[in-house]
Amino acid sequence: MAKQITKNVSWVGKVDWELTRFHGDELSTHRGSSYNSYLVRDEKVALIDTVWQPYDREFVSRLKQEIDLTKIDYIVMNHNEVDHSGALPELLREIPGTPIYCTKKGEAIIRGHYHQDWNFVNVKTGDTLSLGEHTLTFIEATMLHWPDTMFTYFDGDGGILFSNDGFGQHFATESLYNDAVCKAEVMYEAEKYYANILNPFSPMVTKKVQQILAMNLPLQLICPSHGVIWKDNPSQIIEKYQAWANAYQENQVTIVYDTMWQSTRKMAEAIADGIREVAPETTVIIKNIAHDDKNDILTEFFRSKAVLVGSPTINNGHSFAMAGLLEMAAGLKFKKKKAAAFGSYGWSGGSVKQISAKLAEAGFELVNDGIAKLWVPDTTALDDCREYGRQFAQSLA
Ligand code: FEO
Repeated sequence: MAKQITKNVSWVGKVDWELTRFHGDELSTHRGSSYNSYLVRDEKVALIDTVWQPYDREFVSRLKQEIDLTKIDYIVMNHNEVDHSGALPELLREIPGTPIYCTKKGEAIIRGHYHQDWNFVNVKTGDTLSLGEHTLTFIEATMLHWPDTMFTYFDGDGGILFSNDGFGQHFATESLYNDAVCKAEVMYEAEKYYANILNPFSPMVTKKVQQILAMNLPLQLICPSHGVIWKDNPSQIIEKYQAWANAYQENQVTIVYDTMWQSTRKMAEAIADGIREVAPETTVIIKNIAHDDKNDILTEFFRSKAVLVGSPTINNGHSFAMAGLLEMAAGLKFKKKKAAAFGSYGWSGGSVKQISAKLAEAGFELVNDGIAKLWVPDTTALDDCREYGRQFAQSLA
């Protein structure tokens, strides 16, 4: 069912309560998601973004209940990943020839996905589209998070920014707005989204936020294409993005480990004890990579000023699960975070050296060469780990 948001704008998207994985298996979505599409009605009518392909028929069928499709004058595609462009083929079968406003890169991406010679109109920053009384203004947002991305600003109804993935969260709700749901849950999902998708593009986020603030646009609502609409104090998410884009960290250390027979777990807990002894004000998080969610762990990395990564030595290297986490951490390009490695071994060793090398390659600043312990750590070995934790915490001061 469509939901009226303002005098001119209706939400016509799809709430996906079932989604648990996004981008294949790259991103967990514990609270589902939504694919937000918006209908902007003035003398002319524009549809902003569509929904993911599995919901294309449902989307078009419900859109028909809301409006005679032939009354849609323009389709605006802010970003053309399939979760937003997936219903275009179904929609354009009904209204062929309807102009699609998108960036030049957006046209290339749509063509690359759907191989159709649709009626494209390329736009760039500052271009406008009059809907009659009010106007849409396009703002390119290149690499937030794809090359095609743009935002669209509507100057009616107090000012609305349609920001697509920007300021979004994977959060399913029928309530639409940020003031109608748990604030902490929404903000966690927004942060997880930023940490796991947008963090590599933080320099571009900073520039884009500065550009939008300099435009001094009236802003009643920020309408992303996932999750809730920022209605209560919409500037709060802009302020968060400014902070998150600036090598974000809290007074937190995250210890993540894998373990075969509990030795590396015992080391992790002893190191944590040492950290807490000398830095009781520091939040210390311990996660088992084999049991805990990888994207939640990466969100903890994002919040941390330092991370400790541990694995037993397996076949001269580290564990399978840790390899995946380190690969993802490298891609997310965290900045100004310290790190070190730890782990148990039986004979040759090797995990600590390998993890240290990967952490350095991923851009973490190594505090030391790490700590390794033979077989099951005894009281003396655990005392060493506690001391290691103390020294690690002191190196962060
Ligand atoms: Fe929500 Fe980048 O697609």
